[in-house]
Amino acid sequence: MTNKDFFGSENFQLSTQKVENSCPSNIALIKYWGKYENQIPANPSISYTLNACRTLTEMQFFPDQEFSVSTFLAGKEEKNFASKIEKYFKSIEIYLPWILKGSYKISTVNTFPHSSGIASSASGFGALAKCLMDLDLLFSSDNRQLTTNNQKASFLARLGSGSACRSLYNGLVVWGETPVVEGSSDLYAVKYPDKEIHPIFKNFKDWVLLIHEGEKSVSSTVGHGLMKNHPYSEQRFQEAKDQFVPMKDILKNGYLEKFITLVEHEALTLHAMMMMSEPAFILMKTGTLEVINKIWAFRKETNLSLFFTLDAGANVHLLFPNDNDCAKIENFIMTELLPFTKKGGVMQDEMRF
Ligand code: DP6
Repeated sequence: MTNKDFFGSENFQLSTQKVENSCPSNIALIKYWGKYENQIPANPSISYTLNACRTLTEMQFFPDQEFSVSTFLAGKEEKNFASKIEKYFKSIEIYLPWILKGSYKISTVNTFPHSSGIASSASGFGALAKCLMDLDLLFSSDNRQLTTNNQKASFLARLGSGSACRSLYNGLVVWGETPVVEGSSDLYAVKYPDKEIHPIFKNFKDWVLLIHEGEKSVSSTVGHGLMKNHPYSEQRFQEAKDQFVPMKDILKNGYLEKFITLVEHEALTLHAMMMMSEPAFILMKTGTLEVINKIWAFRKETNLSLFFTLDAGANVHLLFPNDNDCAKIENFIMTELLPFTKKGGVMQDEMRF
């Protein structure tokens, strides 16, 4: 499919509407870090869709008014966010030709704390794209096929924030073209085939340790930008592409140990790339390092499958299978790892299949 396949119809009929949607966040296992023009990823990525960390969005549309957007986050008006959304809506007019023909009131609530450092852009743009597709379904008549299979919502979410396009599907989700995953695309995400996933990877927990609350030291925009003239970017993009080959084998056959090695390597590589960029950024805090060392020692001592991944920030995503050993792991987290968080902050989440 090309961009053209997503162009919207000029035949539409508008009416005042209110739509509501919720969308979860996701956590990448093979990371997206680096992109080209028009939100085309430099390499394919794969993520788990979460369950508890999500954004709820209510969108009201008034067709008899001039184009404008007002946004409310947890009841409080956010003018900066509104101007970002206005820009985003203007950029996707070709795909939704009715989009600038009215005003919007958008109210969103996140289930995770505002200052937690958990990125809300994936769940936020995911929920927004779902609302837009609901309106499109009400206003236009010839897009039912795309709407049903979620592809256009994922396409639109990507144009707001790359990782958001993966939040439109449950389970393991791939964004970016790779020969390893049939139907994969740079333009939207696809579900990783269920029958290719060993049961052990279908019931997983992700507890997010809130090591550092507040603004991230490097925004995604700056981070992706730093990959442009990075001395190791080509090697990094190639490595991420290559990782899909062992990942496929791991997922199919339930090779948990290899999964742990690959996922932790991906997280550390993302951070290493930022340490080697110009200017350099260290995205971990002392607590992040302490937690990583504790996890490695715990794994050595107990042989239990607790491991981590990181986003472009200091918080640690603790991953572990939801099986008979999980009570022991949870007990270790609560007693040994929680002290490294700011205020005992942990988001207890799980993968959604
Ligand atoms: C580290 O999706 O936030 O979470 O496309 O500029 O909005 P933009 O970037 P964004 O980047 C997220 C990168 C990451 C890894 C990942 O989710 O794959």
